[in-house]
Amino acid sequence: MVSTKTQIAGFEFDNCLMNAAGVACMTIEELEGVKNSAAGTFVTKTATLDFRQGNTEPRYQDIPLGSINSMGLPNNGLDYYLDYLLDLQEKEPNRTFFLSLVGMSPEETHTILKKVQESEFRGLTELNLSCPNVPGKPQIAYDFETTDRILAEVFDYFTKPLGIKLPPYFDIVHFDQAAAIFNKYPLKFVNCVNSIGNGLYIEDESVVIRPKNGFGGIGGEYIKPTALANVHAFYQRLNPQIQIIGTGGVLTGRDAFEHILCGASMVQVGTTLHKEGVGAFDRITNELKTIMEEKGYESLEDFRGKLRYID
Ligand code: DHB
Repeated sequence: MVSTKTQIAGFEFDNCLMNAAGVACMTIEELEGVKNSAAGTFVTKTATLDFRQGNTEPRYQDIPLGSINSMGLPNNGLDYYLDYLLDLQEKEPNRTFFLSLVGMSPEETHTILKKVQESEFRGLTELNLSCPNVPGKPQIAYDFETTDRILAEVFDYFTKPLGIKLPPYFDIVHFDQAAAIFNKYPLKFVNCVNSIGNGLYIEDESVVIRPKNGFGGIGGEYIKPTALANVHAFYQRLNPQIQIIGTGGVLTGRDAFEHILCGASMVQVGTTLHKEGVGAFDRITNELKTIMEEKGYESLEDFRGKLRYID
């Protein structure tokens, strides 16, 4: 009787779990692996207009409580992912998938989004405003003026369902300011959070990844409290038409449960998927269902956003 089905922007998904962009989504083979697992859907590796090699290796490292990465946006270019999705939506018309993208400049972002707009793509688009790893390119979403301008320009021509991937924010005023901007636009979702940018992990006397002298985005257990805070802060502040995707520190069904309690309609798995493989979706789904059964919840709507406070 217990169901973990959900919907985003009116599209239905059999399960609320999916990969986080960057993990298991660079190639069609990897995307097929997620598609054919217990996950409800997948998101592609963030695509730029053209193929990118990314930063030099080693650039991703599993660490005791999570991961550190400085990939530098390696990807096969927009057409690779868009062509695959156009084909897939004919083969599996009853399922919906996510295309992640961002340009190396605002101009390139518009070029990419116009291509998606002009294509037959019927899925969900996630604009990544939070890549922390390209030397010399700050995270767009930490610059509120630029974020506001880009969104204003995008919604002049983009009419397909669009959401944004956000970095974590750490100040209540920043939650207020960011939400005020997002509420001006017909966004379908915000995805909280990308990695905590530019951490440093040391083994013996050395960093563990080569790019940027070891600085990289942190994922996994380290970031769950920050992720939950961001999910809930935006759940409290955004227009109800803007749904929340929760990402960060999901190792177990309990972690997914907490994201949903904070307001998430979909939950993404990154570091744990990288460590465990697509079998993680089956395990986490079963753990989540067990918790729901114990509590007498039949659907996510029974507890979504119902985080309790202490009076
Ligand atoms: C990369 C990392 C990110 O966190 C992101 O959002 C996009 C790209 C990367 O380094 O490839």
